[in-house]
Amino acid sequence: MVIFITGISSGFGLETARLLSQEGHAVYGTVRREVTSLPQVNYIRLDVRDTKAVQQAVQQIIETEGRIDVLINNAGMGIGGPLEFATEEEIREQMDANFMGLVHCVDAVLPYMRKQGSGKIIALSSIGGLMGLPFQGFYSASKFAIEGYCEALRLETKPFGITVTVIRPGDFSTGFTGSRKKATSSEAQQAYPAYQKAIDKVEHDESGGLKPHVLARRISRIIRKKNPRYGYVVSSFEQRLSVFLKQFLPAKWFAAILGKYYYL
Ligand SMILES: NC(=O)c1ccc[n+]([C@@H]2O[C@H](COP(=O)([O-])OP(=O)(O)OC[C@H]3O[C@@H](n4cnc5c(N)ncnc54)[C@H](OP(=O)(O)O)[C@@H]3O)[C@@H](O)[C@H]2O)c1
Repeated sequence: MVIFITGISSGFGLETARLLSQEGHAVYGTVRREVTSLPQVNYIRLDVRDTKAVQQAVQQIIETEGRIDVLINNAGMGIGGPLEFATEEEIREQMDANFMGLVHCVDAVLPYMRKQGSGKIIALSSIGGLMGLPFQGFYSASKFAIEGYCEALRLETKPFGITVTVIRPGDFSTGFTGSRKKATSSEAQQAYPAYQKAIDKVEHDESGGLKPHVLARRISRIIRKKNPRYGYVVSSFEQRLSVFLKQFLPAKWFAAILGKYYYL
């Protein structure tokens, strides 16, 4: 299969590109800086916020391979801090990288997938795309946007033989924690005394989380399925339970549990 995957410099992207290339797929992966650690992978330098660069990358793959079977939209980042203190610039980066990046990639591959009459689109959401996480509110908003978009995309593209799958990982130990852009002003810390404890908890959970190759193996299984499921939660039992509780508990009870977990 011909696979286009974004953000393969570390974490899920790196492990998924590694595994899929070892399995014999033609893998085209994007990076923002010089990386050449996977010899069988075709690296493409781009930032997913750049529409034109994404279009050119897809054009390049089509010229070489004649088709694209799978898009794995993985690139993403997180900002952390009280919602009130996030700057306009930070919010735009969050939404542009996580949500508009997906839109750019989907827009670029869809004309070819429609013509082929087949294709798989896999988007990395998060458990934070199913529940608003305190002090990661804009990150959650970017993933909720992915959820809404993919639900509609799935329906629109079904007649063309294209499947859409949304993956919601729980806590994983990747470069994500170190790359998080956190509010550091003393004003933010003083105004929201719970913030530091809550973000420390988030980072502690992520650092002790699952290893990214677990998710890579799941993606490998998904792309081999003729009709993959629409949604997957890939996480510890406790986090899968939280997703279940969010669906079935009264909102007030669920908010109380989440608040307690994050010392609010
Ligand atoms: N780790 C978790 O616990 C977790 C949980 C739920 C969901 N996720 C999601 O999983 C995805 C992958 O994250 P990860 O955990 O593997 O983190 P990671 O190790 O930090 O990898 C993120 C990748 O995305 C790239 N990226 C970020 N912004 C980009 C942009 N504007 N344009 C192009 N590439 C960009 C990074 O490139 P650079 O190296 O150039 O920054 C890196 O290759 C993200 O969408 C994240 O939201 C992660």
